[in-house]
Parts: sequence; structure tokens; C-alpha cells
Amino acid sequence: MDLQLDGKLVFISGSTKGIGRAIAEALLKEGAKVIINGRSGTAQVAKELESLGDVIAIDGDLSDPEDSEKICQEIETLGQLDVLINNMGIFNPKRFAEISDEEWRHFLDVNVLSTVRLCRYFFPKMLEQKFGRIINIASEAGMRGLESMVHYSVTKGAQIVIGRGLANLTKGSGKNMTVNSVLPGPTLTEGVSQWLKESAAGQGKTEEQFVAEFFKETEPDSLLQRFIKPEEIAAVVAFIASPLSAAINGASIKAEGGLIKSIA
Ligand SMILES: NC(=O)c1ccc[n+]([C@@H]2O[C@H](COP(=O)([O-])OP(=O)(O)OC[C@H]3O[C@@H](n4cnc5c(N)ncnc54)[C@H](OP(=O)(O)O)[C@@H]3O)[C@@H](O)[C@H]2O)c1
Repeated sequence: MDLQLDGKLVFISGSTKGIGRAIAEALLKEGAKVIINGRSGTAQVAKELESLGDVIAIDGDLSDPEDSEKICQEIETLGQLDVLINNMGIFNPKRFAEISDEEWRHFLDVNVLSTVRLCRYFFPKMLEQKFGRIINIASEAGMRGLESMVHYSVTKGAQIVIGRGLANLTKGSGKNMTVNSVLPGPTLTEGVSQWLKESAAGQGKTEEQFVAEFFKETEPDSLLQRFIKPEEIAAVVAFIASPLSAAINGASIKAEGGLIKSIA
């Protein structure tokens, strides 16, 4: 299927590794012009990806309002932004009673305000164009309220609501403009892979044993019963980014291996 993304200008926040990088690779393969971002080392990653297509690097910390403004302005110099992917996010399991105000503020700054600032800048411009896509990479945690990471879950729920609220504002625009959230489940990024290795070693288990027990004990409702591959999330995002997905707007698209049992 031709996703009709040829030549579309895409910005992906936090795309030097993990899910963001996999999305960059998928969209480059579809012919999009992709702007990648991270706090550092972005030029090196752009080099690694350049054989796939037209890739541009913009360094900068999106939890910082000034950096964020600079990044938005730099994106604009490259042309009309067609697709904004709010992927960057941090997570850290911590007992609820031990999460300080400072840490709450940090999570809200990094995961929520980064999304707000990019949307505030580009949403009105996209509404004036013929075409626009905003995709928030939230998490199933935003629907479940994980007890191991209440602060993280709150920020992911907020991203989902921002997505729905902005989608509501596209009503009747007559444009091919949508705002959606994609909700990944446990995904085997480098960070998660490192955590698996260390946790397995710490418990004197093989990685295979540790993963099997993780899904048996922590995520027994997962239908997949394995970690999702970053490229499996990227494939979902590529379709939502496509002009072909115009009928999907304001949605929370679960890509969590079936671990949320509800049908909605
Ligand atoms: N992995 C999972 O199991 C999972 C599950 C559900 C949802 N998600 C969501 O998916 C998204 C991506 O997760 P991931 O696991 O792929 O993350 P990751 O591997 O930790 O990668 C995060 C990316 O964001 C960049 N970054 C971090 N802080 C930044 C900042 N302040 N400004 C700009 N860039 C920044 C990092 O580069 P630098 O460090 O160089 O800045 C990196 O490129 C997150 O929103 C996460 O909540 C992940």
C-alpha cells in the first residue's frame, strides 16, 4: 500500500533512539522528509539514517520553553510541517508516596508541556493547511493508571486528553486534519532491554525466564505475552500519519498487545 507520505515534512520529538527512531526509519522508508530530535547526538543519528532518505537533525531540550520555541522556529524554516509526532517521554517506576512535588513537576514539564508547546505552535498552522497530522505517543498507562508509576500514568492520560481536545477543534474544518494518540504497551527499546538484562542477572535468571515471568506475573492479561518491537509501533504510527487515515480522528489507538481487556 502506498501511504502517500512522499515528501511530507515530519517532526518526531525524542527520536534518536527507541520508538521515536523506529518511527523515523519507517517514515523515511515511506519517502517522508523527517526531522529528528534529541537533547544531543542528533547529527550522528541523522548520519546513520541518511541512507534511508531525507533526514534533518535538530538538537534541543523540549522540556525547556526557550529551546522549544527555537526548535519550532527552526522547523518552520524547513517548510510547512505536515506531521507532528509528540514521542519524547520519560518514565520511572516509583512508589506513589515517594514522588515529590519537584518530580511531579518534572514529569509534567517533560511529558505534558513539551506536547502542549509543540501543539500550540503547530496546531493552528496545520488547521489552515489542507493537510495535518498530530500524533501523541502516549501509553496504555494513561488508561490504566499504573500503580508502579502514577505520575507517569497521569502525564500519559493528559496527552490522550490533549489529543482528543484538539481533535474536537478540527470539527467542520473541511481539511484532512486529525489529532490522535497511539498507546504502546511494553516495548523492547534499548532502555527496556538493558533493564531486562540487569533485572534477570540480579535475580540469577536467564532473560527468557525473566520475560516469561514478567508476563505471567506483571502483565498476565497481555495477549501477545512478549515485548512489542519498536517497529511494530512505528507501523501503526505510519498509517495514522498517512493521508489515508482521515477517518480516524480523536482516537486513542491501543497498540499494547491486547493487555487492556475493554473493547473500547
Ligand atoms: N518503551 C516502552 O515500553 C513504552 C511503552 C509505552 C509508551 N512509551 C512511550 O513512548 C515514547 C518513547 O519511549 P522510548 O521507550 O522509545 O524512549 P527512549 O528509548 O528513552 O527514547 C527517548 C528519546 O527522547 C529523547 N529525549 C529525552 N528527553 C528529551 C528532552 N527533554 N528533549 C528532547 N528529547 C528528549 C532521547 O534522546 P536524548 O536522551 O538524547 O535527549 C531519546 O531520543 C515515550 O513517550 C514513552 O512514554 C514507551
